[in-house]
Amino acid sequence: MKVLVVGNGGREHTLAWKLLQSPKVEQVTCIPGNGGTAAMEQCQNLPLNAEDFEGIGRFALVNGIGLVVVGPEAPLAAGIADYLKHQHLTVFGPTRLGAQIEASKAWAKALMQEANIPTARAAVFTELDAAQAYVQAQGAPIVVKADGLAAGKGVTVASTVAEAQAAIAAIFEGQFGKAGHRVVIEECLVGQEVSVLALTDGITIRPLLPAQDHKRIGEGDTGSNTGGMGAYAPAPIATPALMERVQTEILEPTIAALQQRNIDYRGVLYAGLMITPDGSPKVIEFNCRFGDPETQVVLPLLETPLDSLLLACAQKRLADLPPITWKQGAAACVVMAAEGYPAKFRKGDRITGIDDAEAQGAVVFHAGTQIKQNSLVTDGGRVLGVTAVGDTFDDAITQAYAAVDCIQFEGAYYRRDIGHRARAIESTSS
Ligand code: AMP
Ligand code: GLY
Repeated sequence: MKVLVVGNGGREHTLAWKLLQSPKVEQVTCIPGNGGTAAMEQCQNLPLNAEDFEGIGRFALVNGIGLVVVGPEAPLAAGIADYLKHQHLTVFGPTRLGAQIEASKAWAKALMQEANIPTARAAVFTELDAAQAYVQAQGAPIVVKADGLAAGKGVTVASTVAEAQAAIAAIFEGQFGKAGHRVVIEECLVGQEVSVLALTDGITIRPLLPAQDHKRIGEGDTGSNTGGMGAYAPAPIATPALMERVQTEILEPTIAALQQRNIDYRGVLYAGLMITPDGSPKVIEFNCRFGDPETQVVLPLLETPLDSLLLACAQKRLADLPPITWKQGAAACVVMAAEGYPAKFRKGDRITGIDDAEAQGAVVFHAGTQIKQNSLVTDGGRVLGVTAVGDTFDDAITQAYAAVDCIQFEGAYYRRDIGHRARAIESTSS
């Protein structure tokens, strides 16, 4: 089978890498891909825009593509799956209506409230004055969210009423463009965050191993929010008992609520959860795609061929597959970012040492990289996801950092405390 992967991040490099481990996958084409996917055997990049549905559809039809896997949320929310399905292509990724679960926080909140899914209490406003009055009445801490897609920047966890008021004003002033027509204001949850990425064909839903991301730029979870500075799996806080609750209290009712709205959701349902101090899972947000960098730690542990799972979702026969199997052990990913990220960052710096890093046993997934005049250079905020698998968290994390030490580019930044929670749990239980 020939597979097409849409996107250019670390997530897409990981998807292509894992798909190519399957004996049935002969070739992967990434649109547009990055420096990592360009260099992989049996993999090629095609310089099309992810929003060029016609061009993507034409390429897939002419080249006999058996499966299209869509990585990012933006093309899904713009209807790429609808378009390609209409061309009789097989697509992994929800339709435009399904993608609203990520593309409209107000829509997702209404669905959760209707289906009684545990989540933060919230109210939705389309008028500035009403929103400001609500925040005044509720007090702080409080969370303010722009309704639409805002590349991870639309959320303010406000510790004062003034901060919340400023966030609301910025949203209504159009700081997030279309995402700013509505604002969701919600209760501030406390606890530990876990990402549960689940595969679904619209009827059956199967979670992958739970992962924990590190969203803040600084060590000790300080500073600005980012796309994610590192991850590890399986997250020890998500015990089998907790995962059972996630399945019955969150994943299954969500799929049922989507069905009720006549949405045939085939792809990843990513539940971003807060595990509250009493041990209950609550939904912070849903995403309609694989997480980045969660994918970089979940897929290296997957034993079941990835193509068989994605194809079964796309073809609505996930229930026919045997249970998903996993390697023993743990995975950790350290993101190396460009100087300045998540604000304006450096670009075009030469990257060296990846072969040495991989010789240590790590896998280096590329995100913001590009091959320019035969050399690999930085080309994005998050540059590389240096990933290792080990028997324990300590092994995986130590190996990942040993590999990071081999890699150089001007202004490279990374957190030194990825996996600190898992390591602490591991050391107290052994
Ligand atoms: P989101 O873009 O919805 O994932 O939000 C980004 C981050 O903001 C989350 O990963 C949380 O750390 C935080 N956040 C969002 N909603 C809440 C909430 N209701 N309570 C506390 N933190 C939240
Ligand atoms: N790592 C967070 C996300 O993919 O949204």
